[in-house]
Amino acid sequence: MPTIYDVARHAEVSAATVSRVLNGNQTVDPAMTARVLKAVRELGYRPNAVARNLRRSRTTLWAVIISDIGNPFFTAMVRGIEDVAQQAGYSVVLCNTDEDPEKENTYVTAALSQQMAGVIISSSGSAKAAKHLMESSTPVVAIDRELAKGAVDTVMVDNEGGAYAATRHLIDVGYRRVACVTGPAGVSTADRRLRGYTKAIETAPIVRRADFREQGGFDAMASLLDDERPDAVFVANNLMAIGALRCLAARDVGIPGEMGVVGFDDIPWADLIRPSLTTVAQPTYELGRVAARLLADRIESPSGKPSTIILPAEMHVRQSSSR
Ligand code: RIB
Repeated sequence: MPTIYDVARHAEVSAATVSRVLNGNQTVDPAMTARVLKAVRELGYRPNAVARNLRRSRTTLWAVIISDIGNPFFTAMVRGIEDVAQQAGYSVVLCNTDEDPEKENTYVTAALSQQMAGVIISSSGSAKAAKHLMESSTPVVAIDRELAKGAVDTVMVDNEGGAYAATRHLIDVGYRRVACVTGPAGVSTADRRLRGYTKAIETAPIVRRADFREQGGFDAMASLLDDERPDAVFVANNLMAIGALRCLAARDVGIPGEMGVVGFDDIPWADLIRPSLTTVAQPTYELGRVAARLLADRIESPSGKPSTIILPAEMHVRQSSSR
């Protein structure tokens, strides 16, 4: 009776590749897939149903891997995931990577070795972790940030469109030197929001990159004030926007008169501070709900082409950009 290892040798691939092909994983190279299926036919291989069920009999746990447990953006998103997971009979294990690719890889390794039923990840950009996930047969959904160029089910907002609208709004109300503070290179939300800003700007881009954290936003704003002196700034996430506001207050820069400000990610009290903050809001709970639905469906039906769902981002215009 030929085994999966005989098929692997015959097709000159690894046993893991054979497993992925037989589980309908779409990321396997088509030539490899053909070699595996040919070897299965020629050897008359029949997957061992008991072994396959043992392999598949995973826990009823989902690993939800996020990049910053301290960021309120992720709170509502994880709530949306958990509500659907519970209804589908799964429990959630929350993993915080601290925007650290190495820590992300550690969590991905743990999730796979613990036979988690599925993984939902907002990636901090670890190529190693993405490769590890792609090579496993564990169902994966990318949420908020893309993973391996859409090779898995993905749900996110229109980051580029939201950033474009924010920048155009600042230009349309009369600001002429609009800067952008975005997140780390290689993180899809940071790069796509920068792309939206760059498409909208009519003058030379004025850009600072930071770490999606409050102090990073403060330092980026200080650098812009010292070196470029823009008259407006689009800040690509909530925590950096808070940092930028703290810097402008410390330097006694008037908002919106001397500096227009638009952030990304609504902040619960954005309309309570004075001046109230203009933001591009994401449907965070819905992001979580849709991602969880995608994962539950993928666990039930492992084969089939991955889907990408883009939810709209909505700008809430308030005082900080109303020149
Ligand atoms: O604040 C963290 C940022 O990273 C959010 O804008 C969210 O979109 C995530 O990508």
